[in-house]
Amino acid sequence: TAAALTISRDFTIGDVPRRLFGSFVEHMGRCVYTGIYEPGHPSADAEGFRRDVLDLVAEMGPTVVRYPGGNFVSGYNWEDGVGPVDQRPRRLDGAWHTVETNAFGLHEFARWSKLAGTEIMEAVNLGTRGVEAARELVEYANHPGGTRLSDLRRANGAADPFGIKLWCLGNELDGPWQIGHKTPAEYGRLAQEAAKAMKLVDPDIELIAVGSSNFHMPTFGEWEYTVLNHAYNEIDYVSMHAYYQEHDGDAESFLAVAVDMDAFIDSVASTIDAVKARGKHKKDVHISFDEWNVWYQRGLDTDDQPHRVSTAWREHPPLIEDTYNVTDAVVVGTLLNSLLRHGDRVRIANQAQLVNVIAPIRTEPGGPAWRQSTFWPFARMAELARGRILRVATRSDRIDTAEYGDADLVDASATWNEETGRLALFVANRGLDADADVTLALQGFDVKRVTRAEVLAVPEGGDRFSANNSGRPDAVGLRPLGGIVHDGSLVTLRLPALSWSVVEFE
Ligand code: AHR
Repeated sequence: TAAALTISRDFTIGDVPRRLFGSFVEHMGRCVYTGIYEPGHPSADAEGFRRDVLDLVAEMGPTVVRYPGGNFVSGYNWEDGVGPVDQRPRRLDGAWHTVETNAFGLHEFARWSKLAGTEIMEAVNLGTRGVEAARELVEYANHPGGTRLSDLRRANGAADPFGIKLWCLGNELDGPWQIGHKTPAEYGRLAQEAAKAMKLVDPDIELIAVGSSNFHMPTFGEWEYTVLNHAYNEIDYVSMHAYYQEHDGDAESFLAVAVDMDAFIDSVASTIDAVKARGKHKKDVHISFDEWNVWYQRGLDTDDQPHRVSTAWREHPPLIEDTYNVTDAVVVGTLLNSLLRHGDRVRIANQAQLVNVIAPIRTEPGGPAWRQSTFWPFARMAELARGRILRVATRSDRIDTAEYGDADLVDASATWNEETGRLALFVANRGLDADADVTLALQGFDVKRVTRAEVLAVPEGGDRFSANNSGRPDAVGLRPLGGIVHDGSLVTLRLPALSWSVVEFE
């Protein structure tokens, strides 16, 4: 046996935070324009929303969508995106060297979110703007009426307030690349004051302070500590961002990146605890992991890369449209496992981004939309991870990695839905060459039948780089996982080499 997993009904981590299955729509590349929104596309509705994309979004099941950035938001005037479309200004977006038409803005996103069935997570600009613009946007969006800004929203076609609960206090302001980059103390004070002013307009909102842009930022740790010391009372979450990729053919290290995510989360949680203790605070601050994914950052020398100031200013140029393969999908499955295992601390997470831009859904302008390999672990976990998160005690063979030392060959998470009586296991085999035999010992459960068993692995005739494209949209996907043996409290599974599986029992 390659791995022995033990689950007990009594050992739970907490309730599944449904906002863990979030996504992200930025005004970047073709995420909005020719992604979710393309007037004139054969599938577009009267408002220009692509129905083919909406169908795939419904199938994928994100619960909450962050908007409108990302780096974009740090130079954005929200007022540009409201009011009659023909009067909205065209602007230069310095973050992505793009011409922004503003044909799509807050009202369009709110209507799209209704159709998609997703909660809005709105980011305010704390790069070039500040307290005043942030509190005005809350008033515009959430106040019922009878004031200049709320009546302006009504005049612009939204009689009912948008009722946005989740607000990001800027984006990646620790990063020198960010428009309006700040020191920890500068940002800590600004976040505190913006938060205070926004909650004075609407006390029911939840606020997310910017954390480090990644684990390796020079200010990591100090940033969180300083910002939290200033703003602990006013905020509800601190953010985390992380992107991973395979370097120089080192697949083993790439497959183990969830070890890095685990350590990153534990470190931020420790800092939150330290500030809570130091300030004798009673309330908890949670984590919003509001950008995570696989992203092949190829440098700045190719045409689809951002920051290409030498190219002409264009409207919605294709940017970072990564094609994802089998290996990437297995990694995404393990990253979701890491998030779920930390569901007591991480209450929101957003895979970045939703369409075209490092995304599980791709489109061609005027053409088809299709699912990438990474669509599948997200879709199944968003559907089946419900109820309580179970602790999975894992005794596994090890894989050696250059980056992260030795890691579990088999990586798992599990949930228990008391309402339906169903238990779901999400499990990856990181081994590149061999199947992995797994035993699952269940304490306090009596398995009667398997209700779902699917695996994503290397397709026949393919290899670990196999991927979907518009011509072969289903080359990589889920297929039935056979050979599961169960006997009440003991289950045995065989996981193919390099695979991600979901097994649901009742
Ligand atoms: O998701 C792409 C970009 O990555 C976002 O705009 C930024 O916040 C991060 O650096």
